Formats: sequence, C-alpha cells, structure tokens
Amino acid sequence: MNMFTNHRILFGTSFALFAFLTLVVAIMPAITNQKNNAPLPGTADLTADQLAGKQVFIANGCVACHTQQVRNVAMDKAWGERPGIAADYARITRTDFWRNTATLMGTERTGPDLSNVGIRQGSLAWNLVHLYQPRAVVSESIMPAYPWLFELKDQVAAGEIEVSIPSKFNPTNKKIVAKKEALQLVSYLQSLKQTELPEAPSFLYAEEEQEAKPGYSIQLPDGQQLYAKNCAPCHQTNGEGLPGAFPPLKGSSVVLGDDLELFVNIIMLGYDARPEYAVMNAVGLNNKLSAAEVTAIINHERNSWGNRAKPVDAEQVKNMMDFIKKTKTP
Ligand code: HEC
Ligand code: HEC
Repeated sequence: MNMFTNHRILFGTSFALFAFLTLVVAIMPAITNQKNNAPLPGTADLTADQLAGKQVFIANGCVACHTQQVRNVAMDKAWGERPGIAADYARITRTDFWRNTATLMGTERTGPDLSNVGIRQGSLAWNLVHLYQPRAVVSESIMPAYPWLFELKDQVAAGEIEVSIPSKFNPTNKKIVAKKEALQLVSYLQSLKQTELPEAPSFLYAEEEQEAKPGYSIQLPDGQQLYAKNCAPCHQTNGEGLPGAFPPLKGSSVVLGDDLELFVNIIMLGYDARPEYAVMNAVGLNNKLSAAEVTAIINHERNSWGNRAKPVDAEQVKNMMDFIKKTKTP
C-alpha cells in the first residue's frame, strides 16, 4: 500500500471521504428538512413593512431579552397555544447574500416570549406607548425605553400617529409622534402569531380539567387572573386606566350599568368611542375568550376597586357571545 507515500492517493481518499460525509451529514438532512417543513398553509411572507420592522427589532437588540420559541414544557404554555414546530420558521429566509437567516429564536427570556405576541398584545396604541415608555403601561417593567423611534412635534400632521400617553411621561408640551421605524416595528410584532394547526401537538404536561361544582351549569374560572392577563395591560391592575390613553373601569358606567350587551360587545369586538382615549382592539375575539371567561372578567370588574354591582349571568353572556361569533367570524 502506497497511501502514505503517494500524496495523490492520500489527498484523493481523504477528499472523497470528506465529500461523502458532507453529503450524508449536511446536505441530505438539509434537503429532508426542507421537504418536511414547508411553510404552513394560511401563513404569508412578511410584507415589506414587517420585514423593515424585523430589521428595527434586530438593530435595537430586542432578541437579547425576547425569545421566539415555545418549548414543549408546561411553563411555556403562557406563551402559546401549542409548542413550536420547525415549520413555524419555514418562511424565514436569508437576510441577504452576506448574512445568514435571522430566526430570532433567542436564548434569553428576560421578557416574555414573542411567538404569539401579535395575538396577546395586538393593539397599535398599547405597543406604541410601551415602546416609548414601558413603565407607562407596566409600572414595574425593566424593559428599556426606545424614545428614538419617536419624534417630538408641535403639530401632528395628517396621516401621522400620535402616541396617547399620560402627561407624567411627557413633560414637554409637544406631541409624541411615531416615526416610520416604530410603526414598522409594531407591524412586525403584530405579525408574530402562532398558526392554528388542524391537529396541534399538545404540551407534555396536560392541565387537569376543573370539574363543574354541582348546582352550577357553568363553572366560572378565576376572573382576577383573567383580568390580569387580558385587560390589565391597558386598564391597569388597580382599574384606574391611564389618563389620556385607557379609561378607568373603576366607577365606569359601562361596568356598573345594566347594558350587558354593550359590555360584552366591547370586550369581544373592541371599542373606539371617544377621541380622548386610544382604540381598544377586539381583545375577546383575539384571545379566544369563552363565555365563562368573559362572565368571570365582568363579575370581577363589577366587584373590584370599590365597584359594587350585581353579578351577571353566564347563560345570558353565552347567548350574546354566540350571536357575536355567528355574525363576526367568517
Ligand atoms: C432588557 C431586556 C429587554 C429588552 C432589550 C427588550 N425588552 Fe421587551 N420586555 C422586557 C420585559 C422585562 C418585558 C415585560 C414587562 C413589560 O411588559 O414591559 C417586556 C415586554 C415586551 C412586550 C410585551 C409582551 C407581552 O407579552 O405583553 C413586547 C411586545 C416587547 N417587550 C417588545 C420589545 C421590543 C420590540 C424590543 C426592542 C425594541 C424589546 N422588547 C426589548 C424586556 C426587554
Ligand atoms: C389594548 C388596550 C386595551 C385592552 C387590552 C383592553 N382595553 Fe378596554 N378599552 C381600551 C380603550 C382605549 C378604551 C376606550 C375606547 C374609547 O372610548 O374610545 C376601552 C374601553 C373599555 C370599556 C368602556 C369603559 C367606559 O367607561 O366607557 C370597557 C368596559 C372595557 N374597555 C373593558 C375591557 C375589558 C373587560 C378588557 C379585558 C378583557 C379590556 N377592556 C381590555 C383599551 C383596552
């Protein structure tokens, strides 16, 4: 054998081995992956604005604190309806010729996971206030503020979007106007939604179903918890809202009044009645609140922060919700 004396054979053999291994270890698995993880039906590529927003997300280092991956463990249930799968990322392509794919899955979760944040925090108004000054909406937040995504102006021009924020956070007399970058970033955040699957993989640890107590047709879940998750980001834990952005529910005539239909409609479909407040988006529909959950939230609000009003009936709420769902969902 002249392998170690003939350099042609030595290098030829090791190159052939190297090429074979590359094929088996790298190229073939990549082809299989691409075949088996096609983009999910019902998803779309990011629009030009959303793509620009993703660049703003990268440029501002948001990935340092936010992941975009829902793991198959019970503690991740808060961040999505189901664990993430490879196909969720199939639409992400190379940034450009020089830079590889930015999946932004992240490794550090100082803030919440953002895989489904487009559903959880779908409101433009909330996101703009939060980016300008996180502590205006989440008083204990440690997220940095991003004021350079905004401009201070004397006048809001047509087509520009002003940020509704309590004057405490804007000591100047000027208007806070969102720059193009802020709007693009929010449009990217709003695009982050888990796609519904016909057969969704379930989490490893199933939660125990609560059995209905005898005598009650619908067992009500914990209204305080549901309020904290769905409503407190805007109306605040103390029910006092934020002046100039989100109205108080403490003492609100809608909350304390007898027009249950209006109340349920606001929760499910959102509300935009007054210029002095921002817009409430369709929180109930987006978060897929059930009749029992809506009833629990309503009853929590009617009996908190000094509010005192009779609890409402779950069956009545259910009838209204059935009607809304019939007319408002395709
Ligand atoms: C230093 C860590 C840190 C950085 C950097 C950071 N965040 Fe956050 N983020 C947090 C924390 C902590 C929270 C939870 C408290 C809050 O809502 O403010 C949060 C909350 C959020 C939420 C609300 C999530 C939810 O489920 O309610 C969004 C949206 C968000 N961040 C977007 C961003 C964007 C966009 C950037 C980059 C411009 C960014 N964050 C940068 C720490 C961070
Ligand atoms: C993204 C922010 C946001 C979230 C989340 C939100 N709201 Fe609102 N809500 C608003 C804004 C803004 C208004 C005022 C709209 C207007 O009047 O133009 C409002 C108005 C209301 C009103 C009418 C109050 C009044 O006195 O006129 C009720 C009731 C209400 N919301 C209940 C809820 C409930 C219940 C939840 C949770 C299921 C919720 N909201 C979640 C932003 C929000």
